[in-house]
Amino acid sequence: MSPLALRVTKLVIFAIITASVAIIYLKLFKRPPVDVLMKMNKKSKFNHDFGAESFRTVHPVLEENEKGPLDELSDTEENDVSEDDIEDSDTYWRQFIEKNHFIPIGGVYNKCEGTKLQLGSVILIENKEDGSLLARTFVNFTLHDNVTSGTFSIKVKYNSKDLFEYSWELCELEDDIPEVNRTFTCPIQAGKFSKVKDKTIPGYLPAGRYQTKAWIVDEHKKTLLCGYSDFSL
Ligand SMILES: *[C@@H]1O[C@H](CO)[C@@H](O)[C@H](O)[C@H]1NC(C)=O
Ligand SMILES: *[C@@H]1O[C@H](CO)[C@@H](O)[C@H](O)[C@H]1NC(C)=O
Ligand SMILES: *[C@@H]1O[C@H](CO)[C@@H](O)[C@H](O)[C@H]1NC(C)=O
Repeated sequence: MSPLALRVTKLVIFAIITASVAIIYLKLFKRPPVDVLMKMNKKSKFNHDFGAESFRTVHPVLEENEKGPLDELSDTEENDVSEDDIEDSDTYWRQFIEKNHFIPIGGVYNKCEGTKLQLGSVILIENKEDGSLLARTFVNFTLHDNVTSGTFSIKVKYNSKDLFEYSWELCELEDDIPEVNRTFTCPIQAGKFSKVKDKTIPGYLPAGRYQTKAWIVDEHKKTLLCGYSDFSL
């Protein structure tokens, strides 16, 4: 190759690399503005399962006493809720969303699999103070027993691939938050539990589809709450 051809080749390679880096950067990291994100997520139909199906697990056969991954086996209990209750809960939360013109990105249920009673809703909303994006969770349910310990687990998929999963001790989850600001304090008293909780969606998250599953299991391995969300940035 002549020196000139070599220089041109190098230049072309350099240009291609620069362009690909820029494209990858733009594709992955450049997020649309908040109002566009809101519209993007509005398009997705309300009546979907918020990604629940994508987290469905075929329970592995386990040795006796062996724990399942993230204690997921607790979810096979009988359903003590009637079909009517389930329908009422669906209607209640759908009307709540429609009435307020919210953009739903998730739901909170009494269990993770099978027919679920809806206990709450997750919406996408703009923080008017600083223009950031918030996931706001509403949850209203009755706790039948005092809860003294348990686990909080989460799984996240990014563009349909597993990204992250982790479990925390429920009562240590909010250790670094001042007591007055906590969502709950242990032991959690039986009774009506009604909360609105905001979580900022960090601005550094790359563009793409995020699906999450988060669930709380008590000390008797009974699922108390299971939430799913599905949104795009
Ligand atoms: C939750 O329950 C409380 C009182 O029981 C009620 O005032 C509130 O409107 C409910 N929240 C939602 C989002 O339904
Ligand atoms: C929960 O604990 C309180 C004391 O903290 C007790 O008075 C109450 O009876 C307990 N409730 C249940 C359902 O066990
Ligand atoms: C706790 O709540 C208070 C009042 O709602 C608020 O001013 C403060 O910033 C909160 N602190 C944290 C660490 O969230």
